[in-house]
Amino acid sequence: MAITTCIFDAYGTLFDVAAAARTAAEEPGREAFRDHWPAIAEHWRSKQLQYTWLRAITAEHTDFWQVTQDGLDWALEAEGLAGDPELRERLLQLYWELEAFPEVPGMLKTLKDQGKATAILSNGSPPMLDGAVQSAGIGALLDDVLSVESVGIFKPARTVYDLVGQRFGCAKEEVLFVSSNGWDAAAAAGYGFRTAWVNRAGQPIDRLPARPDTVMKDLTGIPEIAT
Ligand code: LAC
Repeated sequence: MAITTCIFDAYGTLFDVAAAARTAAEEPGREAFRDHWPAIAEHWRSKQLQYTWLRAITAEHTDFWQVTQDGLDWALEAEGLAGDPELRERLLQLYWELEAFPEVPGMLKTLKDQGKATAILSNGSPPMLDGAVQSAGIGALLDDVLSVESVGIFKPARTVYDLVGQRFGCAKEEVLFVSSNGWDAAAAAGYGFRTAWVNRAGQPIDRLPARPDTVMKDLTGIPEIAT
């Protein structure tokens, strides 16, 4: 069955989540932060995701902006930087207006020229996703931005992936789901979507019940596999 609908994870897939800490580290007056930013970025992402899974398992949902702040607070304390509220505010502001990876606008434009429906399906809350889509300037290349907030549970709950068929009225086999998060790509593959895992960091494949159909280094090859 031909692919009609291309669905993208947001954070780490379209938007560069490490850019917040990297950009802050380059700013004047942040010399003390320079040695810490890679560890902060890694702890921040790791705790943010752990908190989504734990909150899903225990049915204690809160929105992704809250777990993003909770993950950052853990990371700052772990690196001995909890006493710098200005740094915390700056990192959160940068997270709100993350950069898209450089290939994103061209890749989305090609998909639109091919006549595909395109959308984000993300843990992000609608206001955060709006902030990132606007600052990346990709709103006109997306048919919709779907947030887990409409079902009140984080990925990889199946009710999140159900949002795609509900919105676009398509069969699972018509959907190409793209994520840089191995666990998200694996869950979407198990759900029944065609899937591409964007493995920018060259990580081992996740040992989960399903595996993605395709593994790529970045998003440039997506239009070719979507045809
Ligand atoms: C998202 C997270 C998982 O955008 O990156 O859903």
